[in-house]
Amino acid sequence: MKQDMILILDLGSDENARLAREIRALGVYSEIHPHDISASELAALPNVRGIILNGGINREIDGIAIDASEAVYASGLPLYLADHKQGAPWPEDAQARKAGLYEFVFETCGAQPNWNTQNYISDQVDLIRQQVGDTGKVLLALSGGVDSSVVAALLAEAIGDRLTCVHVNHGLMRKGESEQVINVFGEQLGVDLIYVNAVDRFLDKLAGVTDPEEKRMIIGKEFIRVFEEEARKLTGIEYLGQGTIYPDIIESGTKTVKAVKSHHNVGGLPEDLDFKLVEPVKMLFKDEVRAVGSALGLPDSMVHRQPFPGPGLGVRCLGAITRDRLEAVRESDAILHEELAAAGLDLKIWQFFTVVPDFRSTGVKDGKRSFDWPVVLRAVNTIDAMTAEVPELPWSVLQRLTERITNEVPGVNRVLYDLTPKPSSTIEWE
Ligand code: XMP
Repeated sequence: MKQDMILILDLGSDENARLAREIRALGVYSEIHPHDISASELAALPNVRGIILNGGINREIDGIAIDASEAVYASGLPLYLADHKQGAPWPEDAQARKAGLYEFVFETCGAQPNWNTQNYISDQVDLIRQQVGDTGKVLLALSGGVDSSVVAALLAEAIGDRLTCVHVNHGLMRKGESEQVINVFGEQLGVDLIYVNAVDRFLDKLAGVTDPEEKRMIIGKEFIRVFEEEARKLTGIEYLGQGTIYPDIIESGTKTVKAVKSHHNVGGLPEDLDFKLVEPVKMLFKDEVRAVGSALGLPDSMVHRQPFPGPGLGVRCLGAITRDRLEAVRESDAILHEELAAAGLDLKIWQFFTVVPDFRSTGVKDGKRSFDWPVVLRAVNTIDAMTAEVPELPWSVLQRLTERITNEVPGVNRVLYDLTPKPSSTIEWE
């Protein structure tokens, strides 16, 4: 790392991530570490120019306020104590907050604004080369999502043909997604890509399974099994690439905050597949991962992809998955994406998709009675996916969607728009 760093020590604030993002937005790199960082851990961090002791609501543990370690006070680095109770919190007003941060970061600490995408890429390319050496080989499960795609592009840049990617098509991908992975990585970037068509295998395992959690479990387990089979066929691979990002690490819990949820990206790989991990975007927030992807030449449609659940369309084809309804989900989802893009709304809505329930209703088609599936349109805006609101879509867009979906998607005679925020509903239907 060539860049200057402002260190944030977690003294029980629930706003560490926000602060790190604000400092990075000033062009200065920032990392969050536990309050009791040791002298040797501190010394191992490159180019630290100042430290923020970020206190907050979780500062007291069993009635006693935690404090930073002796090493921090002895470091001689500029310190800033932010604590609600001691009268020096960051102002809430955005301008005042930015001015306060600016003063500390640039004037007090003398940090240089040298954190940017190009520097990050060149640092990571160097670090990957150092980690895997001149002959090391890396394996990567490439789903086509933003994080694994950006990791693939970084690894391709760093080690070229010593990267092998495995793309498992479980039949629950969105329309054109596997084709795009093959096209971008296999053809344009010339990555060694193993494409596994596991569609029948997944759909056979899922036949007749109605419980959403059981569906999730089957998809997750089968995915690991397929990936493991491919990994065993290859020899001489020591490293596994992973698309872990900074929120995964932060959300897995700090010393003062209980874990929100633990993240296991390729959790469950057998122990005898003994890989060392390469995680080149693990210090980045999502928007920074996207910026790195764009700078590496990945297409916008890949870099700005919406969050997509691991079980894919499997949890949007409600109840027992059947091939006809799965196609109806995939086709209607593609139409929704096309129409919201045409209306200039696709980048303004956080996540949107379609759902096909497992019941039918009566309709009329070409003068005859039909008994077909409905399609539910779902669109939400949210900051953190914990709560979500439903945007007001223009009536003309909803009408056009209804017309196209009922005309173009076989087996569908009705379209609904889900108006329910989270809570009371969740974003997904299963
Ligand atoms: P819910 O439905 O819980 O969704 O409001 C919140 C966000 O998480 C995504 N989601 C999942 N992601 N595996 C995932 O990787 C899952 O099983 C899963 N279920 C929901 C969902 O798309 C939304 O963005």
